[in-house]
Amino acid sequence: MAENGFCMEIRPKPCVLLIFGAAGDLAQRKLFPALFHLHRRKLLPPETRIGACLREEMTSKAFRSRLGRGLIQSESVSGGSAVSDEAGMADFLARIECFCGDFSRSEFYLSMKKRLEAWKRDSNAVIQNRIHYFAVSSDMYSILSEKLYEHGMTVEEADSFSCAVFEKPFGLDLESFEKLDRSLHLYWKESQIYRIDHYLGKDTVQNLLMFRFANTLFEPLWNRNWIESVGIRAEETLGVENRVKYWEKTGLLRDMFQNHMLQMLSLVCMECPSVFNADGIRDEEVKLIRSIRKPAAEDLTGNFFRGQYLAGNVQGRNVCAYRSEPGVPSDSMRETFVSARLFIDNWRWAGVPFYLRAGKRLGEKKTEIVIRMKSVPHSIFFPVQPEDLAPNLIVLSIQPEEGVRLSIQTKKPGPRLCIGTQDLVFHYAQILPDGERLPDAYERLLLDCMLQDAALFIRSDCIREAWALMTPVLEAWNAADSRKDFSAVPLLSYAAGSAGPREELQCFRDSPL
Ligand code: BG6
Repeated sequence: MAENGFCMEIRPKPCVLLIFGAAGDLAQRKLFPALFHLHRRKLLPPETRIGACLREEMTSKAFRSRLGRGLIQSESVSGGSAVSDEAGMADFLARIECFCGDFSRSEFYLSMKKRLEAWKRDSNAVIQNRIHYFAVSSDMYSILSEKLYEHGMTVEEADSFSCAVFEKPFGLDLESFEKLDRSLHLYWKESQIYRIDHYLGKDTVQNLLMFRFANTLFEPLWNRNWIESVGIRAEETLGVENRVKYWEKTGLLRDMFQNHMLQMLSLVCMECPSVFNADGIRDEEVKLIRSIRKPAAEDLTGNFFRGQYLAGNVQGRNVCAYRSEPGVPSDSMRETFVSARLFIDNWRWAGVPFYLRAGKRLGEKKTEIVIRMKSVPHSIFFPVQPEDLAPNLIVLSIQPEEGVRLSIQTKKPGPRLCIGTQDLVFHYAQILPDGERLPDAYERLLLDCMLQDAALFIRSDCIREAWALMTPVLEAWNAADSRKDFSAVPLLSYAAGSAGPREELQCFRDSPL
């Protein structure tokens, strides 16, 4: 036992990480910086090597020097110390080599396999342990998997692993998910598939499990008898940036709700897993998502809101309306905001409303979970009535201020009887060593792939349940859009930089958010 707490040991096996789409935004902004941090924290075994798979021709030297510049820039923006760690940077970049070519042609795989054999000879690379990271559009998932399969790269030899990491969106509705899932299972076993939901890699999201199941204090109260309502928000100031093409295909329900929001909800509400391992956690998650009441078309009014931002001012900057973003059709019905009241039909949660809210171009960046406890049943502090006493709140702040807040009623100092709300607050910043930051979600998730620990990745049945829940909503919206009858499911407007659509705020006045 460590002095204060217990830490599990981490010893990833050496492997080869092949990143398809290595020149893309995700790889450059998230994956390589995360790998660099793992390297600096000495969590990458020396034999681990990285293959940057690109469609465009580029020498490894040119790729490394461009990546190095990008890493230095992102570190100096985030205040890190990599800028001065030149040796560390050079060692990291030396792990990387480019494989360029057309991913749909066999020549690409044949020449990559030759290079991998050379890695094994020249630098003891452990090429039988392979992670294939698909940082490409989901249209490419099947063809890439098929090619890897044809070239024997999906095979797992004894004591080795070969796995595939897929980014969301995993399908666009239940039907397309089923199709994609079936095709991937032709080439990979379920145990080889790692579907990323980067929210699960956030320390503060994982802390939900510790908070609930490493303490005795909260769990006895964690049910319909003591909890009045729960709110989960993921609000952003960003718009759709340079992702208009993606956004026009997806929209917020698919981008945030079907995955990140439901994952947070399931961690807040699921039963305690019998074991802390991938299937233990994922069995409970899927059970929970399956118990969320499926909204019938007639229940959408007043329970599901969709919105789209107009022009406005976000934190001092004037921004345009979604429909005026370059590339967006002037009559686009794509939602940039969704808010929903959900119910969970099981003994623990019957009757408790769950308010989920996510949107782009809102006034503040904030992701948090708010648990509002019931009011006291009776007040002995006459003339104060029970409803005059603010209910206790437990606020789990996911970002940007990571921590936990418990608000309680206390006596205000002085001779008079005055009661007021005080907060007991814990900030992660208080327990981080000077200059350190919480690791990025991708650091944790990439490390888990190397450890072959799938606990924080989404299993196929869980995604299926999430689509089964959200697809009827999408269908009702699509039907309204094609009939041009928005009376039941209007697309509400909100000014960029505001708190969201007025109608939603009014209807969900009881939300703890
Ligand atoms: C991504 C979505 O999954 O999550 C983005 O595609 C969104 O639209 C992002 O901006 C939010 O992530 P975070 O970690 O900044 O809350």
